[in-house]
Amino acid sequence: MKELKKNIYWVGIKDWELKRFHGDEFVTEKGSTYNSYLIKDEKTALVDTAWGPFKEAYVDALSQAVDLSAIDYIVCNHSETDHSGALPLLLSKIPGTPVYCTQKGAQMLKRHYHEDWNFQIVKTGSALPLGEYELNFVEAPMLHWPDSMFTYVKGASLLLPNDAFGQHYAFSGFFNDEADPCELNREAIIYYANILAPFGKMIRAKIDQLKSMNLPIDMIAPSHGVIWRDNPMEIVERYYEWAGEYREDFVAIVYDTMWHGTKQMAEAIGAGITKQGIKAKIINAARNDSTHVLTDIFRAAGILLGSSTYNNGLLHSMAGIAEGIRGMKLRGKLGAAFGSYGWSGEAPQILSDSLAKSGIKVTAEPIKAVNNPTEEEIAACVAYGEAFARAVKEQ
Ligand code: FEO
Repeated sequence: MKELKKNIYWVGIKDWELKRFHGDEFVTEKGSTYNSYLIKDEKTALVDTAWGPFKEAYVDALSQAVDLSAIDYIVCNHSETDHSGALPLLLSKIPGTPVYCTQKGAQMLKRHYHEDWNFQIVKTGSALPLGEYELNFVEAPMLHWPDSMFTYVKGASLLLPNDAFGQHYAFSGFFNDEADPCELNREAIIYYANILAPFGKMIRAKIDQLKSMNLPIDMIAPSHGVIWRDNPMEIVERYYEWAGEYREDFVAIVYDTMWHGTKQMAEAIGAGITKQGIKAKIINAARNDSTHVLTDIFRAAGILLGSSTYNNGLLHSMAGIAEGIRGMKLRGKLGAAFGSYGWSGEAPQILSDSLAKSGIKVTAEPIKAVNNPTEEEIAACVAYGEAFARAVKEQ
């Protein structure tokens, strides 16, 4: 329990040991937190809970922070089980307590838990007075699920946006100014790239809407990671930037290779790119976690994908990366493909087609080589990289 503002407390869980999230999809090197907030006013409200494996620990700690029977309202900003997993145990102890959520939230909670709790459906503009404070609800569909919403605590200038502006980051403090800034910035963009990137247009629209509401905000407390109290609007501005056609000044060369032919091509293409004064990150997709590979792809101005041809198709790590790129709905990036092969050689064209279908502007036909590239083919890869770098500079 930690008081954030007068009578407003963090009552969450720090999950130091979490290494994978969303099943095994997302690597979480720094663990995570499930942030839950308790507001003790004339009425007592609880906003979000914690993941199911922590339900006993969560409810035990909560019962030390407040007499559970004194909780008047529970707000569920988002039904995903990392925030709602403790609800069944909590509501078994305080049955009938109203659960405030969106229409979609109620549908999804029913599907998760097969319980028909006392749902109170709220929309943007709905308010719940607590006394000194008032909860104002703002629907935020697809940030990042259809049911998501933000809760604004009027009177405290506090925004509780659930997953938005979060990070999978457990540390000993609570606030952004207490965190290692390098770790925090890295985890924030990893989280955005892997969870929120597909919804960039909706994120910009939601931020525009929030700004038009002129809500005073001096603290943003998401459901994972730090609470933003030092310059809290900075993370909002960064989200606005990331949600546009975001690109940093480097090219990501992501490949997988069987007998180093494709690796040699990746290195030669990288040499061509750096010859043109653009940085290149060369990444073996099979030897790096896809969470981090996709983050570099999200950040890059250009994406070069390479794969050996295997059974007329892609090596499986590159198939996964191509699928990840498809889902991210990236905009404003250039791409191309390459790879070595033994006889049929389909992989580079499959990658090139996949990039194009994913909204990436493909700059050139894929470049290929049989088995190990010759000196001439290596020189052609260098030239290919130089041409790609020139296209990046001109975009
Ligand atoms: Fe942190 Fe969408 O759950």
